[in-house]
Amino acid sequence: MSDKYRAEFPLLAEKMNGLPIAYLDNGATTQKPETVIEAITEYYRRQNANPHRGAYALSVTATDVYENCRERVAKFLNAKRSREIIFTKNATEALNLVAYSYGLSVLKPGDEILISVAEHHSNLVPWQMVAARTGAKLNYIYLEDDGNLSEKDMQEKITEKTKIVAVTQVSNVLGLINDVKAIGEKAHAVGAVILVDGSQSVPHIAVDVQALECDFLVFSGHKLLSPMGIGVLYGKEKLLNEMPPFLMGGDMIEYVTEQHTDYAELPAKFEAGTQNVGGAAGLTAAIDYLEKVGFEYITAKEKELIDYALPKLKELDFIELYGCDSQRDNKTGLITFNVKDVHPHDVSTILDAEGVAIRAGHHCAQPLMIYLGQNATCRASFYFYNTKEDVDRFVAGLKKVREVMHLGS
Ligand code: ALA
Repeated sequence: MSDKYRAEFPLLAEKMNGLPIAYLDNGATTQKPETVIEAITEYYRRQNANPHRGAYALSVTATDVYENCRERVAKFLNAKRSREIIFTKNATEALNLVAYSYGLSVLKPGDEILISVAEHHSNLVPWQMVAARTGAKLNYIYLEDDGNLSEKDMQEKITEKTKIVAVTQVSNVLGLINDVKAIGEKAHAVGAVILVDGSQSVPHIAVDVQALECDFLVFSGHKLLSPMGIGVLYGKEKLLNEMPPFLMGGDMIEYVTEQHTDYAELPAKFEAGTQNVGGAAGLTAAIDYLEKVGFEYITAKEKELIDYALPKLKELDFIELYGCDSQRDNKTGLITFNVKDVHPHDVSTILDAEGVAIRAGHHCAQPLMIYLGQNATCRASFYFYNTKEDVDRFVAGLKKVREVMHLGS
């Protein structure tokens, strides 16, 4: 497949340590195409004002930029209505919103929350807090040997006591795609709601919230070509209407007296304070760009890159892979591994000197690390603008790691 997109990302023309950059940390954040950078610049050059507040043309323009983004996101996710889209700072804030607003007001002692052991801390720590404050129990779905969620756990642990099932659609460590629609069906059968963490899925596969029938879904703009500081919570209108606000302040009110406040309708009820309109301008441009590229292409390109990388990694007897034995169609472009006898931070530092950027550490998923019996791992995460040359440089860098550490090659 062609490498034509790389040239549209200015940062990828930069050098890292004097070398062309092989950017393989897209799971952490993606680079931004020229059109997104232009949209943000255009907003701050010609459209910036505080939205929803001013009765003057510029403020109306800023409001339009912001609300057009909401329409764009609703269409992108196939939400029924744009008021089901709430802007947040990122996926973490969106998850906290649901935990604080829905979790704390709905759960009682004896109720159960079910998450998977492969959750990012953002979809785990808030539920620990909710469990501790409400007396609910936090249960876990563990994994099959190939890294997929345990069918047995899903059969046995979604019960009448379960009120919230919160799972990631794609693990940020294993890159495996979970069948969240099937999990949602089980949750709904017992009257529970399902929340989907789409942080690692929405940028990589087509996501349709009506087809998934999920109650909540979150994602971060910055993993999807947009600037940092804008994220999305999708929630079914009925649920969002019943939930109390999360943050209080300006713009989320209808009327305030000394002792009482009537809250605004959706979506303003959940958007207190001045919002990230420049971020919204970038997110709209990012979705336009992504849809032009198309998910068919994105999925195929990521598959091509890992199909090219995996056999090369498997040839190296000093590489241990995680989550790479599953069905290949069930995986996004993400490879987690360790180099035998070398700490992941050393691997990352040596690759850095070769111009290759990967992530090393616990990936904000410490319970998963413990479950895998590892303190840390390395992760190379690809996107559609990566090239086979990036893969070649990554594999060559791994051989170098062994040499530098005097472990042979
Ligand atoms: N959640 C991001 C990652 O997985 C930062 O790298």
